[in-house]
Amino acid sequence: MANGLDDVVAADTVLSDVDGVGGHLTIRGHSLAELAGRWRYAQVVRLLFDGFFDDLPGDAEFENAIGKARVEVFDRVKPLLAQLAPLDIYSGMRAGMAILPDGDGLADALRLIAAPAVLTPALLRLGRGETPIAPDAKADHAGDMLRMLAGAASPALAKALDSYLVTVCDHGLNASTFATRVVASTQAGLTSAILAGLGALKGPLHGGAPGPVIEMLDAIEASGDATAWLSAEIAHGERIMGFGHRIYRVRDPRADALKAVVRQLGSRNEASSKEMGSRLAFAETVEQAALEVLRIAKPQRSIQTNVEFYTALLLEAVGFPKEAFSNVFAAGRVAGWIAHAREQQATGRLIRPQSRYVGPVPDLVA
Ligand code: ACO
Repeated sequence: MANGLDDVVAADTVLSDVDGVGGHLTIRGHSLAELAGRWRYAQVVRLLFDGFFDDLPGDAEFENAIGKARVEVFDRVKPLLAQLAPLDIYSGMRAGMAILPDGDGLADALRLIAAPAVLTPALLRLGRGETPIAPDAKADHAGDMLRMLAGAASPALAKALDSYLVTVCDHGLNASTFATRVVASTQAGLTSAILAGLGALKGPLHGGAPGPVIEMLDAIEASGDATAWLSAEIAHGERIMGFGHRIYRVRDPRADALKAVVRQLGSRNEASSKEMGSRLAFAETVEQAALEVLRIAKPQRSIQTNVEFYTALLLEAVGFPKEAFSNVFAAGRVAGWIAHAREQQATGRLIRPQSRYVGPVPDLVA
């Protein structure tokens, strides 16, 4: 048995490929570098969906359809928001998504793309005692998320968030995508499959890491000594959030894509950009200290920076509080989950592995 299913191939996919040795991510024939910062999120969602839905419209119409889905989802969840708001923000989003119809069509898929983008700002606003802002069907997806959060979105921040959503849209057979495919393999509907992905993403070993990255940066800043703080964590058996990956033995290419976006934000000529620039410089110092501490503590394993380290800085810079970072991750990754669910339904069989029984055996009756 391969504990954790290391190196087990459990699906053929045309969607994405993670080269953990070379440090490359390919999404439907495009490198991450080709897509991040160049393609809009709606275009990449369409790219992932291509071939998995019969009625896929062209790029412009597709973006409009996502906008209309945001409005539809907002209208559906609005009566429930007050009940969802007391939950933690991730559970509130998941509960809001659970009420969506459980079909397999494009309309179902678009509602699922729209839902995290609509629910997250609405629940954050309610949590702050503010009224939720309705979506604008004509706005771009990332810009509308920020507008629903803060009332307005600067084009630079909207572009940064869009680049983030593109960067995390799909990533091979990670834990949440596998969970999604297992449920899709039973021929359950898309909402059921996506709820499985949402559950798996929440944990700190997967999509729950970027919030703790901010807590770590703040604690290190307060302590004044990154190496001492990080070494003490390792000595206590803790993991350093934002570092290490099951597949990558080199630096996660998404970390560099996101760092470039944060650097761009920090180089603008505004007071807030200066703050961002110094936050980035501090994070880079912590990153170098963490890589060195991990190299010495775990010489048998190459533990490098993963996507979550710079995710934390980027999402903080565009205005999301740390408790909502995993929601925003879900808002990007939901595209990959839907495409994988459709691929599994179309080409896969029921996923049903075996377990090895290691418990007590019943007494034989004489
Ligand atoms: N900090 C300290 N030690 C680590 C870290 C880390 N970040 N990552 C791995 N290790 C160590 C483990 O303690 C273990 O050491 P040991 O052999 O002395 O017991 C060894 O490396 C192997 O650990 P595994 O859990 O088997 O390695 P795996 O490759 O499966 O780990 C994982 C991947 C779970 C992401 C891990 O690196 C980790 O916990 N990282 C911190 C959390 C994090 O950043 N999660 C986000 C991942 S990216 C994503 O999912 C989007």
